[in-house]
Formats: sequence, C-alpha cells, structure tokens
Amino acid sequence: MSIISLVLSAGKGTRMQSNLPKVMHDINGIPMIEKVRRAILGLNPDKIIFILGYKKEIILDYMKDIDYVVQNEQLGTGHAIEQAREVLSDFCGDVLVINGDLPLIKPDTLKSFYNNHKSNSADASILTTIVENPYSYGRIVEKDNKFIKIVEEKDADAEEKKIKKINVGAYIFKSKLLFEALKRIDTNNINKEYYLTDVFKILSLNNKKVVLYNTDNNLETSGVNSQYELYLANLYARQEKNISLIKNGVRLVDINNCYISEDVIIGNNTVIYPNVVIEGKSIIGCNCIIKSNSRISESEIKDNVIIDSSVIESSILENDVTVGPFAHLRPNSYLREKVHIGNFVEIKNSKLDYGVKAGHLSYLGDATIGEKTNIGAGTVTCNYDGKNKFKTEIGKQVFVGSDSMLVAPVKIGDEATIAAGSVITKDVPPKALGVARSKQSIIEKWRKI
Ligand code: UD1
Ligand code: CA
Repeated sequence: MSIISLVLSAGKGTRMQSNLPKVMHDINGIPMIEKVRRAILGLNPDKIIFILGYKKEIILDYMKDIDYVVQNEQLGTGHAIEQAREVLSDFCGDVLVINGDLPLIKPDTLKSFYNNHKSNSADASILTTIVENPYSYGRIVEKDNKFIKIVEEKDADAEEKKIKKINVGAYIFKSKLLFEALKRIDTNNINKEYYLTDVFKILSLNNKKVVLYNTDNNLETSGVNSQYELYLANLYARQEKNISLIKNGVRLVDINNCYISEDVIIGNNTVIYPNVVIEGKSIIGCNCIIKSNSRISESEIKDNVIIDSSVIESSILENDVTVGPFAHLRPNSYLREKVHIGNFVEIKNSKLDYGVKAGHLSYLGDATIGEKTNIGAGTVTCNYDGKNKFKTEIGKQVFVGSDSMLVAPVKIGDEATIAAGSVITKDVPPKALGVARSKQSIIEKWRKI
C-alpha cells in the first residue's frame, strides 16, 4: 500500500476576516493544519505534501520541515492540486487529498475511508456525510443510486440545494487518474474557479469507479470557514480533550469551563477547578489542585502541587510546591520541593531551593535562593540598573526581613540575617546580620495639644 497525501492549504480564508492564513487558526491550542496533519499520520502515508500559498511563511515557520508545493494564485481547489503534478509525476499509488480546514477529522475515519477505497478497488473515493443543514457544502448528486457529480452551493439548482448528502472535503484517487482528469476541468462555474470536485464527474463519465464512503459523525466532518465555525470546532475539540482527561482519572469540576490545550498531559487524581487555562505542552503531575483563575503555560508541574489563582509561564515546579493566590511565575523559574510562594509574589529566571518561603508581596528576579530560606514580605531583588541585569545569590536558611531591597549584584551567605527595611548593597557573610537602614529617632512631646 502506498499513499501520499496532499493537504489543501493555500487559501486566504476570506470568510475568517482575519490576518492569519485560515489553516493557522487555533483549535484547542494547535493550528488547524497541524490537527489535520496528525489525523493523516494515522494512515501512515509515504509522504504528506502541503499546498501552500497565502502567507506561506507563517505556516512554514510553525510547521518547520514539511514537504510543500506553492500555489501562487488561488484559482480554486483543482488548480491547487495541479501544482503537485510535477512532484507526483513518477508516483503510481493512491493520493489522499484533504482540505486543510477540516480540523476535527479523526485518524480512524480516514483509515476506514482508505480501507473502503481499497476493498472496493475504487478509482476514486469521496468521503460524504448527511447533514440537516447542507448550506455551503458541495452536494452529492446521484441518480438511481449512481454517482453523477458534486455540485457547489452557488452552482446548485433548487432541487440540488435540497440534497443533504455532502462532500466532506477528503478524497482518495489513483494518482494517475487524478492528474489525467485534472487536465480537463474548467472554470465554467459561478466562482470562475477550477474545482477539484469536477474531477469526479469526468472520472464517472469515463466509466471509472467512483465510490462514496459515508460517515455519520458530522461534527467531525465540519469545515471551518468563519469565526463562528472556528468557535464551534473549538467547543468540540475542547470537550473531546476534557473527556479524555476525565477518562484518565483527572477531576474537572466543570468540564465546560476549563481550557486545556490539546498537548497538555495531566496525571490522575489532579483536580482542576473552573476557569483554569492550561496551555502549550504543559505537564501536570498527580494529586495536584489547580484552583480557579490560574493560567499555566508551557510548564512542568510535578505531584501534590497546589496552585491558586496564579499565572505560571515556562517554569518547573517540583513536588509539594504551593503557589498563590495571585502569584506570577515568569519564564525560567525553578521551584524545588516544598517551596511556598504566596500572595502577590513575582518570580523570574530564578532558582528557589528546597523549602524556600516567599509568602507576600515580593519580586525575585535573576536570583538563586538556598534551601529553607525565608523571604520576608516586600523583599525586592533590584536586578536592573536601567541598562543591565544582575544576579542576587542568597544562601541556605537565610532570614530576609520584610521590606528589604537587595541591590544586585549581591551575595548573602548561608544562615545570614537581613534586618527589615534594609537596602543591601554589599555582600553579607554567612551567619552575619546585614542591616542598612537609618536609625530611629524619638522626639518627645511632638504633639502640642
Ligand atoms: C470545498 C468543496 C466542497 C466541500 C467543502 C467541504 C471545492 C470546490 N469545494 O468547499 O464541495 O463541501 O470544501 O468543507 O473544493 N484552497 C487552496 N487553493 C485554492 C482554493 C482553496 O489551497 O485556490 C484550499 C483552502 O485553503 C481550503 C480548502 O482548499 O483549505 C478548501 O477550500 P474552501 O474555499 O474552503 O472550499 P469550500 O468552499 O469550503
Ligand atoms: Ca472550506
């Protein structure tokens, strides 16, 4: 079995009213075109070739090393496939052509479609489904149970418009026959485009075997052409992801109100409260509690971690860490076991060792902090002089009193103490007290009456 897939993805997607190429729009955390690619991979094709055109740089930037051909002008789906004629000139197997705007299609559906094509020894196959409202789809015209043609919405007459069997936008052809028939399509239609769908009428008239394969999951087969259809596709994709998490033992308090991207992994017995967003390739361990209004992006959270109403970006949290409410972990924060980060604490590019506590109102940036050190309320690592960033090194079991400014570069030795309200500009040795604040004066009888 030898099959190559062509993915139609050159169109602008005018109906999206967006600056992005249509196939780059997001379906639960990954672009449509990537969703389609993953579905095709289920067929184990020899190759996937993308047909790119409108803003192809954006697609190539995301998809990296893909095979592609370019359709410079978008003259229709038939014209798009024409661009692959040369690269497939020596290929004698089957070609799966699929619209890039079909993000919900399942690998299993494509597999059954292909098996059906093979077992029927078809020359060409069309994936169809039956929908209540067929508006905007190509209709499958049959007579006496025999396939006649696909007619597009704009070209259909009143009778044809009533047909509920539609063209999903996925096809399999014997490659040689596809490119033979493609020479004969024209632009005699309302859109003045070369329709790929006209190929089937030509094949059928030439007594080639055109087989329809119907699937009844017509959510999976929805094309995305507008922001509203994108929204509906996202609802479906998100629900699918959430159901798969629940099946794996994750507790979602409200399945309709948490936003967990396609590639996120979550361990069993973790609880996700409403209004949580988990993005990118984040990994969350077992027995965690992620409370409402948290956003976790591209981060790795180990087991037994509690996060409350906080933002965590590109960071790593080891076991038994607690964060929030209202903390912000910016990229490259590394929190070892049992670290506690409390209210209104911001951390950036810092390593906090075992058991460090920063409970209130602090900024810790470009810092390393040794185990069991306590950072008092209002501590700030002053890491920026307006031009450059500097490091703060704080040792083990240090006690930093409240409202301390640590002006980097600066080192605080193990078991040192920093007096509250100090502005520390020089290194503090181990076990020493660093105090840098003006002495208190008392003026008696200050109030006259
Ligand atoms: C297409 C089908 C229609 C089917 C529907 C299913 C045609 C003529 N019609 O209609 O029968 O019911 O899909 O969703 O094929 N593209 C290019 N180059 C072009 C034009 C389009 O690469 O010149 C790409 C688009 O980026 C898109 C795909 O082809 O990914 C389909 O094009 P679109 O304009 O969305 O076709 P539909 O009107 O949805
Ligand atoms: Ca479409």
